[in-house]
Amino acid sequence: MSGVVVAIDGPSASGKSSTARAVAERLGFAHLDSGALYRGLTLVALREAARRDPSAAEPLAVVDAETVLRAAEDRGLMLQSDGVGFSTYVDGEPADSAIRAADVTVHASSVAAVPTVREWVNIHLHGLVRAGRDVVVDGRDIGTVVFPDALLKVFLTASPEARASRRISQRGMRIDPASLAEEAKLLAARDHADSTRATAPLQRAGDAVELDTTRLDFEEQVARIVALARERLERR
Ligand code: DC
Repeated sequence: MSGVVVAIDGPSASGKSSTARAVAERLGFAHLDSGALYRGLTLVALREAARRDPSAAEPLAVVDAETVLRAAEDRGLMLQSDGVGFSTYVDGEPADSAIRAADVTVHASSVAAVPTVREWVNIHLHGLVRAGRDVVVDGRDIGTVVFPDALLKVFLTASPEARASRRISQRGMRIDPASLAEEAKLLAARDHADSTRATAPLQRAGDAVELDTTRLDFEEQVARIVALARERLERR
């Protein structure tokens, strides 16, 4: 039996993960962060590349997708339920911090552009939902490709400046014009890579509700999504 799915898609630093988690908590659903699997695979790719050629200037050139997917199975990459969310495990250890490291972030878009990698991730996401849990899933292609029949699809956006300043604050750093411009440039590069790839690019599903969070406060955006989800649950 499959669970109910609320899909939240949007560009980097649009607030998807924190919003998805809070929405899941209020609805009594689990929060499933699909980006964690892409990041987990990127971590595996970098570890595998370092094992094969520690001095490689371009680590992803050392491993192909098939090698990465096999290494992911061998190294036990998985998401394990931890209450509201899921924790990422690699090599038998929690990897939630390791998958947020800067080198993983930089290489994740290239790994996520490979069709066989996307198939692997989607099989895992479907498996977790088939286990019967109701979930709020966040990502880039959740409403368009992974769960096209989701109960509710939300597309979160925010201005590049708002997203850049949220990213810098999350790191506990001071926001100044130079760091803001630098971060906005990095985000724009990732958005471009995620939106222009051939397979499952980042795009709004035709039936998604678009929410621009530039001027919404967090509470407000969570409350709006929860209200929409409850409305649809009642109408089912
Ligand atoms: O949301 P995030 O920054 O943790 O995502 C990590 C990378 O994975 C990012 O490059 C986008 C990609 N991704 C994707 O292509 N599709 C998804 N459903 C989720 C993430």
